[in-house]
Amino acid sequence: MGSFAGNRVSLALFGLGRMGLIHFENLQKNPNVRLKYLVDLDQEKANNLKDFHHLDETKVILPQDDHFVFEDPNVDGIIICTPTDTHVHIAMAAIKAGKGVLCEKPLAMTIESTLECYREATKGNIPLLCAFNRRFDPQIRDMYKKRDIIGQVQSIKTCSRDSPRPPMSYIKISGGMFHDCAVHDLDLIRWMIGEEPISVYTAAHAHIPEIAALGDVDTIFIVLKFPSGVIAHIDLSRDCKYGYHQTCEMFGENGNLMSDNPFKSAVHFAGVGGTVNDVIHHSFKQRYSEAYQEEIAHFVALLTGQVDKCCVSPNDTLRATFLAQAAEDSWKSGEVVDLKEHFQKIFKNNSNDPLLW
Ligand SMILES: NC(=O)c1ccc[n+]([C@@H]2O[C@H](COP(=O)([O-])OP(=O)(O)OC[C@H]3O[C@@H](n4cnc5c(N)ncnc54)[C@H](O)[C@@H]3O)[C@@H](O)[C@H]2O)c1
Repeated sequence: MGSFAGNRVSLALFGLGRMGLIHFENLQKNPNVRLKYLVDLDQEKANNLKDFHHLDETKVILPQDDHFVFEDPNVDGIIICTPTDTHVHIAMAAIKAGKGVLCEKPLAMTIESTLECYREATKGNIPLLCAFNRRFDPQIRDMYKKRDIIGQVQSIKTCSRDSPRPPMSYIKISGGMFHDCAVHDLDLIRWMIGEEPISVYTAAHAHIPEIAALGDVDTIFIVLKFPSGVIAHIDLSRDCKYGYHQTCEMFGENGNLMSDNPFKSAVHFAGVGGTVNDVIHHSFKQRYSEAYQEEIAHFVALLTGQVDKCCVSPNDTLRATFLAQAAEDSWKSGEVVDLKEHFQKIFKNNSNDPLLW
């Protein structure tokens, strides 16, 4: 990696779509970051962004010229916000060039290539942070810190309903709803419970004909069972009309913890007809605005060596990816999946890889 003049890191941002623009805004606010490259197929969009923000030192380049980023000794890390099917190619090139990587989820389209990326990163001792942004959300972190209050956990529920529905061009290359959406909830539940589940059962359906035509789904219910007896339930939708619904509830022997949907405004009107709240946040940009900033700050701290442990380990990403695959397989077979057996089936000769344990 490059040298960190005054703890400032030099970064390249790949992809300036929905997620890339959120990271772009946060990079502008972070005094520890110098944005050296913007890489996107859409050069006009990238140049407009550069000009609007007077980023005179930032270079705009096309994806086919990305070797300039990897050959630049002053680049410390890259942020990947391109379509999911391009992640591995970019991440591997960056890791091989010694650049730290913050990659949007899912890191790869397959478990094998997720493992390959982590092997390469581990070999070179390169930070590779998979963007499970909910782990950085102050409200969810507060729930995590308080989880001991409720004693032995008995059940956990998450509900994640997307708003607005992403365009079909995105859904087509998203890797499917299990890897694109459920993976966040699976990661969150594993993290909260601190155990590996033993079984999974899924029911899913596509209510939207264009999504059905892709062989994908827009509505998913997943039930997981853990060795301690905890039961987890995940409720997902691709298309929620009242806003971006993101809740998590954990019930234990001494009570209940609930991370509720924040309202856009905390002012509530109460009258004879009842109480009226403001709407909930429109989308991920608003709901997780602080989480995305914290995620960038963690990546910068990893690059500068201020923290030495990535808060999403290789094991976390690999296990969440495995669970997304197992949940999808349960939907396809209509059967409860025994996760111990499935683990051996999916990882075969790799099942003893230390990255998985
Ligand atoms: N963590 C989250 O909350 C969250 C939310 C949305 C999307 N995502 C993830 O972010 C990634 C991007 O999703 P999006 O919704 O921003 O997509 P998008 O389609 O809005 O944007 C993708 C951008 O990448 C550019 N691009 C395409 N190929 C490229 C390449 N090879 N090199 C450089 N740029 C390229 C496109 O021109 C476009 O500007 C996906 O992996 C998705 O799963 C994460």
